[in-house]
This record gives sequence, structure tokens and C-alpha cells, in this order.
Amino acid sequence: MTRSSAPGKVYLFGEHAVVYGEPAVPCAIERRAHVEVERRDDDKLRVHSEDLTLDGFTVEYGGRSDSRPDVDVSESLLAAATGYVDGAIDQVREVTGERSVGFDVTIESEIPLGGGLGSSAAVTVAAIDAATRELGVTLETDELAERAFRTEYEVQGGQASRADTFCVATGGAVRVEGEDCRSIEAPDLPLVIGFDGGAGETGSLVAGVGALRERYDFAADTVEAIGDIVRTGESVLETGDLEELGQLMDVNHGLLSALGVSSRSLDAMVWAARDAGAYGAKLTGAGGGGCIVALDPTEATETALKFTPGCEEAFRAELADEGVKRLE
Ligand code: PMV
Repeated sequence: MTRSSAPGKVYLFGEHAVVYGEPAVPCAIERRAHVEVERRDDDKLRVHSEDLTLDGFTVEYGGRSDSRPDVDVSESLLAAATGYVDGAIDQVREVTGERSVGFDVTIESEIPLGGGLGSSAAVTVAAIDAATRELGVTLETDELAERAFRTEYEVQGGQASRADTFCVATGGAVRVEGEDCRSIEAPDLPLVIGFDGGAGETGSLVAGVGALRERYDFAADTVEAIGDIVRTGESVLETGDLEELGQLMDVNHGLLSALGVSSRSLDAMVWAARDAGAYGAKLTGAGGGGCIVALDPTEATETALKFTPGCEEAFRAELADEGVKRLE
């Protein structure tokens, strides 16, 4: 049996625009997905999760994603649970050359599913890492990130950047622009997360921005303006000026909202954070629902979010310096 974990992440700047070649700066947070893997004697996959639904579930199927199991959970949840694991195991089979190996996979995740905190990237990275090590192969972090990216790319129908997977494999703050992925220095940021209990559909949100960008020059300009914010934000990160970082996050949120990816609950949480005195706040990830991230060293934002209608959970997030963790 082999266990690995990988952290979630927030975007300080640049989601969506990163899909069109602009830079983005995500950073890893100390909320992890833990994946335990054990090789089977046959070629089946058995995926068990306690945390993806309230009741937990187990599915077992014969190695191919089209042989869907008959279980009593929603289609999208099942796809989320099995799609990424399935894709991850395909990468493991390819990289190890063990084409017909099967596994029992157990997932425990502290990261809200589909809420913009990188749950799918964390599960994918941890699953590939644990399953390759179970077969005696330890991948370099860059290779692990690349394999996880390919999984997300396929599962999300060709619409994925390297930002999430590189960030959660590497840990810390990173900068991603196209294929250029690197770690960057970041000060200790006082991050507060608000979660509305929901999730946006990454694929359709990305497609919506793409359509807007095709149709209107001003939408293409908005995507480029987000790139400008990221470039400015990077230099401000070096100075550690929280006030200016917050201001840039506010503008980034405004532009994401202009591109149609915010929601009433995300806006309500962003405004609650600002009213509570946060330096700034924005949605994180694909949007449409899910999480916001705010900068506030005091308790005020967390408290205000807890009393905000539409906010289901508010918590402080520590930066995760370590990406994938290899447990045994
Ligand atoms: O919501 P998440 O954590 O899957 O983040 C999506 C980020 C996008 O920029 C919208 C898409 C991508 O692949 O970069």
C-alpha cells in the first residue's frame, strides 16, 4: 500500500486568462487530498471515497471509463470521482509500461470538490504519485506535474492550463505562462477563504469566456488586462505590499466578473470581505460558484464571512510550502 497527498491551491491572480497564454499566479494551501493505492491481482479499478459525498461511496469497474458502475450518486460526482482517477491510472500505466495493472484507490480530501481550490488537480497528482510508487517508480516533480496536466487536459476536453497541476505538485507560489512553469518567492500571505457550498462547471465556464473573447474585442482586451494585473502583481509580491496586492485582487475580480464567471454568492462573499476591511478579495478558480480568497491578517473577514448569507464555510488557509507528500 502506498500513500501520497497533495495540497489545494488558490489563484492570487490570472485564472481564465492563463488558458489564453497570459501568466497566472496560483499558490498552494494546506488543505490536502490524500490518496492511498494498493495494487490488485486483476486489471480492475476500485475507487473508494469517504469525503466526496456525505455518505461516501465505493465503485468498482473494469479498467475502462466507459464501463460505468451502477451506483447511487449523481453523474457529475461520479465523473469527478472516477474520471480523474481513471485518467491518472492511464498515465501510470503508460509511464510504467504496466498496461493491465489494477488498483484499489482510496481518496480522503479536505478540499471542497469543484470549488476552485484545485481538488481535481490534488487528487490527480496524489493518485499518479502513489500508484507509480506502488509499482516501484518515483517520478520527478516536473514529470508528475506534466502527467497530471495531461490527465486534466483529457478529462476537461482539452481546456486546461498547467497552473493547477504544477502548483499542487510543486507547492508554494508558482508562475505559469503557457508551458513555462516556475516557483516564485511569496511573503506569508494572510489568506482567508469563503466557500458557498457549490461548484461551477470548469469546462462550460472556460468555454463561455472563450466564446465572449471570440465575439468581442473588448472581451479579448479584458483577458489581456488580466495578464497585465498578473505581471504587476508579481512585482508587488516581491515587495510584500499587502495593500497593493489586495487592490489588484479587487480589480482582477472585477474583470472576471465582466467575463461572466462570478455569481451572486461569490460577489456577496467578496463584498463581505471588503466591508470587513480585507485588503482585497476575488473569486478563485473557474468561478460560477465555489470559493473566494481574501487578504486579511485580522479575524474580521473570517467572522464576517461566517455571517454572510450564501457562505457555507469560512477558514484561514496557510500557504503549503510542500507540494506532493510521499507518506509510505
Ligand atoms: O476551478 P479550478 O480550480 O479547476 O481552476 C480553473 C482555472 C482555469 O483557469 C479557469 C482553467 C485552467 O485550466 O487554468
